Amino acid sequence: MADVLSALMKICCIGAGYVGGPTMAMIAHKCEDIEVTVVDLNEERIAAWNSEKLPIYEPGLEEIVSDARGRNLFFSTAVDESIAEADIVFISVNTPTKTYGTGAGKAADLKYIELCARQIAKVSTTDKIIVEKSTIPVRTATTIKRILSSGNSNVKFQVLSNPEFLAEGTAIKDLMAPDRVLIGGEESEAGQKAIQTLVDVYARWVDKANILTTNVWSSELSKLTANAFLAQRISSINAISSLCEVTGANVDEVARAIGMDSRIGPKFLKASVGFGGSCFQKDVLNLVYLCEHYGLHKEAEYWEQVITMNDHQKKRFVDKIVKTLFNTVSGKKIAILGFAFKKDTNDTRETAAIYVCRDLIEEQAHVCIYDPQVPAEKIYADLEISEDDPRVTICSSAKEAATDAHAIAILTEWDEFKDIDFKGVYQSMLKPAFLFDGRNILDRGRLEEIGFEVYGVGSA
Ligand code: NAD
Ligand code: UGA
Repeated sequence: MADVLSALMKICCIGAGYVGGPTMAMIAHKCEDIEVTVVDLNEERIAAWNSEKLPIYEPGLEEIVSDARGRNLFFSTAVDESIAEADIVFISVNTPTKTYGTGAGKAADLKYIELCARQIAKVSTTDKIIVEKSTIPVRTATTIKRILSSGNSNVKFQVLSNPEFLAEGTAIKDLMAPDRVLIGGEESEAGQKAIQTLVDVYARWVDKANILTTNVWSSELSKLTANAFLAQRISSINAISSLCEVTGANVDEVARAIGMDSRIGPKFLKASVGFGGSCFQKDVLNLVYLCEHYGLHKEAEYWEQVITMNDHQKKRFVDKIVKTLFNTVSGKKIAILGFAFKKDTNDTRETAAIYVCRDLIEEQAHVCIYDPQVPAEKIYADLEISEDDPRVTICSSAKEAATDAHAIAILTEWDEFKDIDFKGVYQSMLKPAFLFDGRNILDRGRLEEIGFEVYGVGSA
């Protein structure tokens, strides 16, 4: 590990997912002299990373992958070999909510992290820096260190925490110019040296003032805290959206008014059908579990409300549809525009659309779904139904989804939805034609002029 920057540095990243793929592609793109290998057990995923059709849709990703792939960026299933050769090993595997045993439904399942640590301990014959890139509970580094110390006693490891703050849909922009890069390490001389090695990698393109170094625990906890604060803002504005709907206030106007207070700021104040994505819910629940674990029950209850409010918002949206459509959607066709959890991604993990569609199916509606990036088979799998289920139709355009429909529900803010010929769509629908804008992206006045009855989140 000594002076790795003077020789050809080798980085191995375990986990070729939404984080491992883009972050390593950015390091390889920015540091031509560093050999970066991303490994995964999932052969199909690795094959896709080596193909023209990447496994994840992310604006700008194709360009940086094709720049570096084959030069100093490699995707491989040779996990052991790649770990053995590396100076730095990033662990970027999934840390989902535990579904069994102690902590089920809240705690993070660290089995994949533990497996990585065991694998590293088993195959390492040279000193390495191990980087926690995955989001994990505070003090996970202790577990990793204990497992690593069970391997070859001549090999020295330093464990760093370097959480990732990218958001899907803007991952490349976020990686190119991050608000901050956070690196936590031990306060010992060896720990500080390891921190410096990683700082020097990021400093190739990130301003040093934006590279923050802390102790390991602060770094680990900062990641969960950042996601909890972001999710909390959404639940807060969504709680206000209900009040707007019954009082005649408009949530976008309220958000604008409060966001101009520099202490509050304008970002993350968009009321919606509820936040989705693989991390907010799991990370807030993880924080709740941690608080409970340390006996901080009031704190746990406080953070749990963020999730309670988000579940309520999704449910409230379906209730609004059913109530508006004369208290029944049974046998009615409902067009769903957007299935991804946000625009510019094909990721559907925890998308509000899953819950909305399931509830509508439960209400016996005929649900017709269109999303520009999510493949049909993914939607069927998420809804846990077979492809010939008559209750759901996957459409190849918004117009197709809306033809003969009683209502349209917009669940993802894809830009292309703003350009739809809504006049034509309105003409193809049964009357009265309802539109439920779960993202408040459309011009309500213009739609009402066309003839739609429009319901946005957070306006009367
Ligand atoms: P992902 O599920 O897309 O990718 C994880 C990959 O790790 C999978 O391809 C899986 O096959 C692989 N894997 C698991 N165990 C392995 C092993 N032992 N050896 C080799 N490969 C293995 O997950 P993701 O979205 O990339 O998230 C990874 C971590 O980053 C999570 O902890 C998440 O909370 C965090 N995170 C995610 C985002 C995001 O936007 N998705 C942002 C910041 C942080
Ligand atoms: C989020 C964080 O923004 C990232 O910093 C973090 O790294 C990541 O989680 C993670 O740890 O996985 P992501 O979930 O990809 O990123 O996307 P966001 O832009 O945060 O959106 C999350 C959800 O909140 C989406 O469903 C989005 O539509 C919703 N949202 C966002 C709102 O409803 N209102 C808003 O104002 C903002």
